[in-house]
Amino acid sequence: MSMITADPKDVPQVEKFAFDAEHLAKANELIANYPQGRQASAVIGLLDLAQRQHGWLPRVAMNEVARLLDMAPIRVYEIATFYTMFQLRPKGKHHLQVCTTTPCWLRGSEAIMKACEAAADGETFSVQEVECLGACVNAPVVQINDDFFEDLDEASLKRVLDALKRGENPKPGPQVDRVNSAPEGGPTTLRSE
Ligand code: FES
Repeated sequence: MSMITADPKDVPQVEKFAFDAEHLAKANELIANYPQGRQASAVIGLLDLAQRQHGWLPRVAMNEVARLLDMAPIRVYEIATFYTMFQLRPKGKHHLQVCTTTPCWLRGSEAIMKACEAAADGETFSVQEVECLGACVNAPVVQINDDFFEDLDEASLKRVLDALKRGENPKPGPQVDRVNSAPEGGPTTLRSE
């Protein structure tokens, strides 16, 4: 199992980090959205860019964000360790964020979590338990990289993970027969012309 936590004790050392030209241009665009003296408001965006470039957030990347935004590094660490969207250790190619908050728990997230833990090898898959992802009506939910997979059970989760392993792009969203959060099988109300 490869559990990602905010605990940095066994994080590999990374000597240096610098934004490449593409990510630096995006960072500057974000910074320019805020008035002079308020550049710190871009911190989440810059941390996200650093993570997308490097794959995860080593301390040197957080330090570089602090430098660009003229912030004390500790303030950047506080933010990066608070939000589960930031990974402070290397993650797998597909990072599974399993919601285990009450609605997902009532709808079977324990079994989903166990299956994700069993699949996580640290390279193809890594797994992390997270709080509500804001898609409770489609519980249980797993976020995989930038996509939500919803209305999961063990069989549909296995289909999704197997497809990812084969290098395919399984369709995100509900894994049952419904559109977004509409009733399964189609509309049940307001059907007359
Ligand atoms: S409780 Fe899982 S998405 Fe809200």
